[in-house]
Amino acid sequence: DWNAGNVIAEQVELIRKQVGSARVISALSGGVDSAVSTALVHEAIGDQLTAVFVDHGLLRQGEREQVEQDYVASTGVRLITVDAEETFLGHLEGVTDPEEKRKIIGREFIRAFEQVQRQLVDEAKAEGEPIKFLVQGTLYPDVVESGGGSGTANIKSHHNVGGLPEDMKFELVEPLRDLFKDEVRAIGRELGLPEAIVGRQPFPGPGLGIRIVGEVTKNRLETLRAADAIARAELTAAGLDAEIWQCPVVLLADVRSVGVQGDGRTYGHPVVLRPVSSEDAMTADWTRVPYDVLARISNKITNQVPEVNRVVLDVTSKPPGTIEWE
Ligand code: XMP
Repeated sequence: DWNAGNVIAEQVELIRKQVGSARVISALSGGVDSAVSTALVHEAIGDQLTAVFVDHGLLRQGEREQVEQDYVASTGVRLITVDAEETFLGHLEGVTDPEEKRKIIGREFIRAFEQVQRQLVDEAKAEGEPIKFLVQGTLYPDVVESGGGSGTANIKSHHNVGGLPEDMKFELVEPLRDLFKDEVRAIGRELGLPEAIVGRQPFPGPGLGIRIVGEVTKNRLETLRAADAIARAELTAAGLDAEIWQCPVVLLADVRSVGVQGDGRTYGHPVVLRPVSSEDAMTADWTRVPYDVLARISNKITNQVPEVNRVVLDVTSKPPGTIEWE
Protein backbone atom coordinates (compact mmCIF):
# COMPACT_ATOMS: atom_id res chain seq x y z
CA ASP A 1 0.00 0.00 0.00
CA TRP A 2 1.15 3.51 -0.87
CA ASN A 3 2.24 5.47 2.17
CA ALA A 4 3.66 9.01 2.25
CA GLY A 5 5.91 8.33 5.23
CA ASN A 6 7.55 5.37 3.48
CA VAL A 7 8.14 7.31 0.30
CA ILE A 8 9.72 10.14 2.28
CA ALA A 9 12.03 7.76 4.15
CA GLU A 10 13.01 6.05 0.90
CA GLN A 11 13.66 9.33 -0.94
CA VAL A 12 15.62 10.82 1.96
CA GLU A 13 17.96 7.82 1.72
CA LEU A 14 18.28 8.12 -2.06
CA ILE A 15 18.89 11.88 -1.93
CA ARG A 16 21.60 11.49 0.69
CA LYS A 17 23.21 8.76 -1.35
CA GLN A 18 23.10 10.83 -4.54
CA VAL A 19 24.51 14.09 -3.16
CA GLY A 20 26.66 13.01 -0.21
CA SER A 21 28.02 16.04 1.59
CA ALA A 22 27.78 18.30 -1.47
CA ARG A 23 25.81 21.52 -1.52
CA VAL A 24 22.67 21.59 -3.61
CA ILE A 25 20.44 24.26 -5.10
CA SER A 26 16.75 23.87 -5.67
CA ALA A 27 14.45 25.48 -8.20
CA LEU A 28 11.49 26.92 -6.34
CA SER A 29 8.61 28.20 -8.48
CA GLY A 30 5.90 28.74 -5.90
CA GLY A 31 4.01 25.73 -7.23
CA VAL A 32 3.24 22.58 -5.28
CA ASP A 33 5.78 20.35 -7.02
CA SER A 34 8.83 22.47 -6.42
CA ALA A 35 7.63 23.37 -2.92
CA VAL A 36 7.41 19.69 -1.99
CA SER A 37 10.60 18.57 -3.75
CA THR A 38 12.49 21.39 -2.02
CA ALA A 39 11.02 20.51 1.38
CA LEU A 40 11.87 16.85 0.81
CA VAL A 41 15.48 17.60 -0.05
CA HIS A 42 15.65 20.01 2.88
CA GLU A 43 14.44 17.16 5.11
CA ALA A 44 17.23 14.98 3.74
CA ILE A 45 20.18 17.36 3.81
CA GLY A 46 19.16 20.49 5.77
CA ASP A 47 21.45 23.44 5.26
CA GLN A 48 23.37 21.86 2.41
CA LEU A 49 20.41 23.13 0.39
CA THR A 50 19.79 26.64 -0.96
CA ALA A 51 16.47 27.29 -2.69
CA VAL A 52 16.45 29.61 -5.68
CA PHE A 53 13.39 31.49 -6.84
CA VAL A 54 13.55 33.10 -10.26
CA ASP A 55 11.28 36.10 -10.70
CA HIS A 56 10.98 35.97 -14.48
CA GLY A 57 8.24 38.56 -14.70
CA LEU A 58 5.77 35.87 -15.78
CA LEU A 59 4.35 35.35 -12.30
CA ARG A 60 0.85 35.93 -11.07
CA GLN A 61 -0.16 38.57 -8.56
CA GLY A 62 1.18 37.86 -5.06
CA GLU A 63 3.29 34.87 -6.05
CA ARG A 64 6.68 36.25 -5.19
CA GLU A 65 5.47 37.34 -1.75
CA GLN A 66 3.99 33.91 -1.09
CA VAL A 67 7.34 32.25 -1.74
CA GLU A 68 9.52 34.81 0.00
CA GLN A 69 7.33 35.08 3.08
CA ASP A 70 5.05 32.08 3.59
CA TYR A 71 7.24 29.31 2.24
CA VAL A 72 10.37 30.46 3.99
CA ALA A 73 8.44 30.92 7.24
CA SER A 74 7.04 27.40 7.13
CA THR A 75 10.20 25.55 6.09
CA GLY A 76 13.12 27.63 7.29
CA VAL A 77 14.80 26.98 3.98
CA ARG A 78 17.52 29.38 2.84
CA LEU A 79 16.29 31.31 -0.20
CA ILE A 80 17.84 33.41 -2.94
CA THR A 81 15.61 35.37 -5.34
CA VAL A 82 16.94 36.16 -8.82
CA ASP A 83 15.46 39.25 -10.48
CA ALA A 84 15.35 38.21 -14.10
CA GLU A 85 12.34 39.94 -15.59
CA GLU A 86 14.28 42.03 -18.06
CA THR A 87 16.36 39.11 -19.23
CA PHE A 88 13.36 36.84 -19.80
CA LEU A 89 11.22 39.46 -21.50
CA GLY A 90 14.16 40.48 -23.65
CA HIS A 91 14.62 36.94 -24.94
CA LEU A 92 10.88 36.50 -25.48
CA GLU A 93 10.60 39.63 -27.60
CA GLY A 94 9.01 38.86 -30.95
CA VAL A 95 8.48 35.19 -30.09
CA THR A 96 5.00 33.75 -30.70
CA ASP A 97 5.60 30.02 -31.19
CA PRO A 98 4.63 28.07 -28.04
CA GLU A 99 7.46 25.54 -28.22
CA GLU A 100 9.97 28.30 -28.83
CA LYS A 101 8.66 30.18 -25.80
CA ARG A 102 8.97 27.05 -23.67
CA LYS A 103 12.53 26.39 -24.84
CA ILE A 104 13.59 29.98 -24.20
CA ILE A 105 12.05 30.01 -20.73
CA GLY A 106 13.58 26.63 -19.87
CA ARG A 107 16.97 27.82 -21.06
CA GLU A 108 16.80 31.11 -19.18
CA PHE A 109 15.78 29.30 -16.00
CA ILE A 110 18.95 27.28 -16.25
CA ARG A 111 21.02 30.38 -17.03
CA ALA A 112 19.62 31.98 -13.88
CA PHE A 113 20.52 28.92 -11.84
CA GLU A 114 23.99 28.89 -13.34
CA GLN A 115 24.41 32.48 -12.25
CA VAL A 116 23.59 31.45 -8.69
CA GLN A 117 25.81 28.40 -9.11
CA ARG A 118 28.74 30.68 -9.87
CA GLN A 119 27.96 32.87 -6.88
CA LEU A 120 27.75 30.03 -4.43
CA VAL A 121 30.54 27.54 -4.14
CA ASP A 122 30.52 24.15 -2.59
CA GLU A 123 32.46 24.67 0.63
CA ALA A 124 32.53 20.94 1.27
CA LYS A 125 34.95 20.58 -1.63
CA ALA A 126 38.58 21.41 -0.95
CA GLU A 127 38.77 23.69 -3.99
CA GLY A 128 35.37 25.29 -3.32
CA GLU A 129 33.91 23.99 -6.57
CA PRO A 130 30.68 25.28 -8.12
CA ILE A 131 27.56 23.53 -6.92
CA LYS A 132 26.58 20.79 -9.34
CA PHE A 133 23.28 19.44 -8.00
CA LEU A 134 19.96 20.99 -8.95
CA VAL A 135 16.63 19.87 -7.46
CA GLN A 136 13.59 19.94 -9.73
CA GLY A 137 9.98 19.11 -8.95
CA THR A 138 9.46 16.97 -12.02
CA LEU A 139 6.46 14.62 -11.73
CA TYR A 140 5.65 11.46 -13.57
CA PRO A 141 3.13 13.11 -15.94
CA ASP A 142 5.76 15.72 -16.91
CA VAL A 143 8.14 12.94 -17.85
CA VAL A 144 5.52 11.11 -19.89
CA GLU A 145 4.19 14.17 -21.70
CA SER A 146 7.64 15.42 -22.62
CA GLY A 147 8.30 12.12 -24.36
CA GLY A 148 10.47 10.68 -21.61
CA GLY A 149 8.14 7.75 -20.99
CA SER A 150 8.23 4.69 -23.20
CA GLY A 151 6.64 5.12 -26.59
CA THR A 152 5.09 8.52 -25.97
CA ALA A 153 5.20 11.34 -28.45
CA ASN A 154 6.38 14.74 -27.34
CA ILE A 155 3.21 16.71 -26.62
CA LYS A 156 4.75 19.73 -24.96
CA SER A 157 8.26 20.50 -23.84
CA HIS A 158 7.66 21.01 -20.18
CA HIS A 159 10.14 23.62 -19.19
CA ASN A 160 11.69 21.29 -16.67
CA VAL A 161 12.09 18.20 -18.87
CA GLY A 162 12.24 18.47 -22.65
CA GLY A 163 12.93 22.19 -22.49
CA LEU A 164 16.34 21.93 -20.85
CA PRO A 165 19.36 23.08 -22.81
CA GLU A 166 21.77 20.36 -23.86
CA ASP A 167 24.85 22.00 -22.42
CA MET A 168 23.29 22.10 -18.96
CA LYS A 169 25.95 21.89 -16.30
CA PHE A 170 23.84 20.37 -13.56
CA GLU A 171 23.18 16.92 -12.25
CA LEU A 172 19.45 16.74 -11.50
CA VAL A 173 17.87 15.60 -8.25
CA GLU A 174 14.24 14.73 -9.00
CA PRO A 175 12.69 12.98 -6.01
CA LEU A 176 9.11 13.22 -7.34
CA ARG A 177 9.81 11.76 -10.74
CA ASP A 178 7.71 8.63 -10.18
CA LEU A 179 4.80 10.37 -8.47
CA PHE A 180 1.42 11.87 -9.30
CA LYS A 181 0.14 15.17 -7.98
CA ASP A 182 -2.12 13.74 -5.25
CA GLU A 183 0.80 11.71 -3.92
CA VAL A 184 3.00 14.80 -3.95
CA ARG A 185 0.39 16.69 -1.94
CA ALA A 186 0.23 13.85 0.59
CA ILE A 187 4.00 14.00 0.97
CA GLY A 188 3.88 17.78 1.44
CA ARG A 189 1.30 17.42 4.20
CA GLU A 190 3.34 14.70 5.87
CA LEU A 191 6.34 17.07 5.76
CA GLY A 192 4.26 19.71 7.55
CA LEU A 193 3.81 22.21 4.72
CA PRO A 194 0.82 24.51 5.22
CA GLU A 195 -2.38 23.81 3.32
CA ALA A 196 -2.11 27.15 1.46
CA ILE A 197 0.96 25.74 -0.28
CA VAL A 198 0.12 22.04 -0.52
CA GLY A 199 -3.45 22.66 -1.66
CA ARG A 200 -2.39 25.14 -4.30
CA GLN A 201 -3.69 24.60 -7.77
CA PRO A 202 -1.04 23.75 -10.35
CA PHE A 203 0.64 26.59 -12.20
CA PRO A 204 3.12 25.91 -15.01
CA GLY A 205 6.77 26.87 -14.64
CA PRO A 206 6.70 29.01 -17.82
CA GLY A 207 3.98 30.95 -16.07
CA LEU A 208 1.94 33.58 -17.83
CA GLY A 209 4.38 33.35 -20.74
CA ILE A 210 2.40 30.43 -22.15
CA ARG A 211 -0.96 32.03 -21.33
CA ILE A 212 -0.57 34.89 -23.77
CA VAL A 213 -1.35 33.69 -27.26
CA GLY A 214 0.97 35.94 -29.23
CA GLU A 215 4.04 37.88 -28.21
CA VAL A 216 4.69 38.26 -24.48
CA THR A 217 5.11 41.90 -23.46
CA LYS A 218 5.12 43.71 -20.16
CA ASN A 219 1.79 45.45 -20.87
CA ARG A 220 0.09 42.23 -21.88
CA LEU A 221 1.41 40.54 -18.74
CA GLU A 222 -0.09 43.30 -16.64
CA THR A 223 -3.44 42.87 -18.37
CA LEU A 224 -3.42 39.11 -17.89
CA ARG A 225 -2.23 39.36 -14.30
CA ALA A 226 -5.17 41.62 -13.46
CA ALA A 227 -7.73 39.36 -15.16
CA ASP A 228 -6.24 36.24 -13.58
CA ALA A 229 -6.34 37.74 -10.08
CA ILE A 230 -10.04 38.58 -10.49
CA ALA A 231 -10.94 35.11 -11.74
CA ARG A 232 -9.00 33.40 -8.96
CA ALA A 233 -10.52 35.55 -6.24
CA GLU A 234 -14.07 34.93 -7.48
CA LEU A 235 -13.60 31.16 -7.82
CA THR A 236 -12.17 31.01 -4.31
CA ALA A 237 -14.98 33.17 -2.92
CA ALA A 238 -17.50 30.83 -4.56
CA GLY A 239 -15.91 27.89 -2.72
CA LEU A 240 -14.86 26.15 -5.94
CA ASP A 241 -11.16 25.64 -5.24
CA ALA A 242 -11.52 21.99 -4.28
CA GLU A 243 -13.64 21.15 -7.31
CA ILE A 244 -11.41 22.91 -9.81
CA TRP A 245 -8.02 21.40 -10.61
CA GLN A 246 -6.85 24.72 -12.02
CA CYS A 247 -8.30 27.54 -14.07
CA PRO A 248 -5.90 29.08 -16.55
CA VAL A 249 -6.90 32.52 -17.77
CA VAL A 250 -5.57 33.02 -21.28
CA LEU A 251 -5.11 36.32 -23.08
CA LEU A 252 -5.73 36.16 -26.82
CA ALA A 253 -3.37 38.98 -27.56
CA ASP A 254 -3.50 38.56 -31.33
CA VAL A 255 -7.30 38.60 -31.44
CA ARG A 256 -9.37 41.75 -31.19
CA SER A 257 -13.08 42.26 -31.18
CA VAL A 258 -15.39 45.21 -31.22
CA GLY A 259 -17.20 46.14 -28.05
CA VAL A 260 -19.12 49.00 -26.57
CA GLN A 261 -18.68 50.63 -23.21
CA GLY A 262 -20.73 53.67 -22.26
CA ASP A 263 -21.01 55.60 -25.51
CA GLY A 264 -17.70 54.45 -26.82
CA ARG A 265 -16.61 51.76 -29.21
CA THR A 266 -13.81 49.54 -27.93
CA TYR A 267 -11.51 47.29 -29.91
CA GLY A 268 -10.03 45.07 -27.25
CA HIS A 269 -8.87 41.54 -26.53
CA PRO A 270 -10.70 38.47 -25.26
CA VAL A 271 -9.61 36.41 -22.30
CA VAL A 272 -10.47 32.74 -22.08
CA LEU A 273 -11.46 31.04 -18.82
CA ARG A 274 -10.27 27.44 -18.77
CA PRO A 275 -11.57 25.83 -15.55
CA VAL A 276 -10.79 22.11 -15.53
CA SER A 277 -11.44 19.16 -13.27
CA SER A 278 -8.84 16.42 -13.25
CA GLU A 279 -7.16 13.68 -11.22
CA ASP A 280 -3.63 14.00 -12.54
CA ALA A 281 -3.66 16.47 -15.49
CA MET A 282 -3.20 13.60 -17.96
CA THR A 283 -6.90 13.87 -18.79
CA ALA A 284 -9.33 16.58 -17.78
CA ASP A 285 -12.88 17.77 -18.21
CA TRP A 286 -14.10 21.36 -18.22
CA THR A 287 -15.64 22.28 -14.89
CA ARG A 288 -19.31 23.21 -14.85
CA VAL A 289 -18.80 26.48 -12.99
CA PRO A 290 -22.20 27.97 -12.03
CA TYR A 291 -23.41 30.65 -14.45
CA ASP A 292 -23.70 33.30 -11.76
CA VAL A 293 -20.04 32.85 -10.83
CA LEU A 294 -19.04 33.09 -14.50
CA ALA A 295 -21.16 36.23 -14.82
CA ARG A 296 -19.44 37.87 -11.85
CA ILE A 297 -16.00 37.05 -13.23
CA SER A 298 -16.92 38.38 -16.65
CA ASN A 299 -18.41 41.62 -15.32
CA LYS A 300 -15.50 42.33 -13.04
CA ILE A 301 -12.85 41.63 -15.65
CA THR A 302 -14.48 43.74 -18.35
CA ASN A 303 -15.14 46.56 -15.89
CA GLN A 304 -11.74 46.59 -14.27
CA VAL A 305 -9.32 45.58 -17.01
CA PRO A 306 -9.59 48.17 -19.79
CA GLU A 307 -7.81 46.16 -22.51
CA VAL A 308 -10.25 43.25 -22.16
CA ASN A 309 -13.73 43.64 -23.64
CA ARG A 310 -14.81 40.01 -23.91
CA VAL A 311 -14.65 36.93 -21.66
CA VAL A 312 -15.13 33.48 -23.19
CA LEU A 313 -15.37 30.00 -21.67
CA ASP A 314 -13.38 27.01 -22.91
CA VAL A 315 -15.64 23.91 -22.92
CA THR A 316 -13.12 21.41 -24.28
CA SER A 317 -12.03 18.29 -22.44
CA LYS A 318 -8.46 16.92 -22.49
CA PRO A 319 -8.05 15.24 -24.87
CA PRO A 320 -8.43 16.72 -27.41
CA GLY A 321 -7.50 20.08 -25.85
CA THR A 322 -4.56 20.31 -23.46
CA ILE A 323 -5.15 22.22 -20.24
CA GLU A 324 -2.91 25.13 -21.21
CA TRP A 325 -3.38 26.79 -24.57
CA GLU A 326 0.32 26.61 -25.44
P1 XMP B 1 -1.23 20.46 -20.41
O1 XMP B 1 -1.38 21.85 -20.95
O2 XMP B 1 -0.09 19.71 -21.02
O3 XMP B 1 -0.86 20.65 -18.88
O4 XMP B 1 -2.52 19.68 -20.46
C1 XMP B 1 -0.84 19.60 -17.96
C2 XMP B 1 -0.45 20.17 -16.62
O5 XMP B 1 0.91 20.58 -16.62
C3 XMP B 1 1.02 21.97 -16.39
N1 XMP B 1 2.10 22.44 -17.27
C4 XMP B 1 3.36 22.65 -16.87
N2 XMP B 1 3.92 22.56 -15.66
N3 XMP B 1 5.98 23.22 -16.58
C5 XMP B 1 5.22 22.88 -15.51
O6 XMP B 1 5.74 22.85 -14.41
C6 XMP B 1 5.50 23.31 -17.83
O7 XMP B 1 6.21 23.63 -18.77
C7 XMP B 1 4.10 23.02 -17.97
N4 XMP B 1 3.26 23.01 -19.04
C8 XMP B 1 2.04 22.65 -18.58
C9 XMP B 1 -0.33 22.56 -16.70
O8 XMP B 1 -0.57 23.76 -15.99
C10 XMP B 1 -1.23 21.42 -16.25
O9 XMP B 1 -1.39 21.41 -14.84
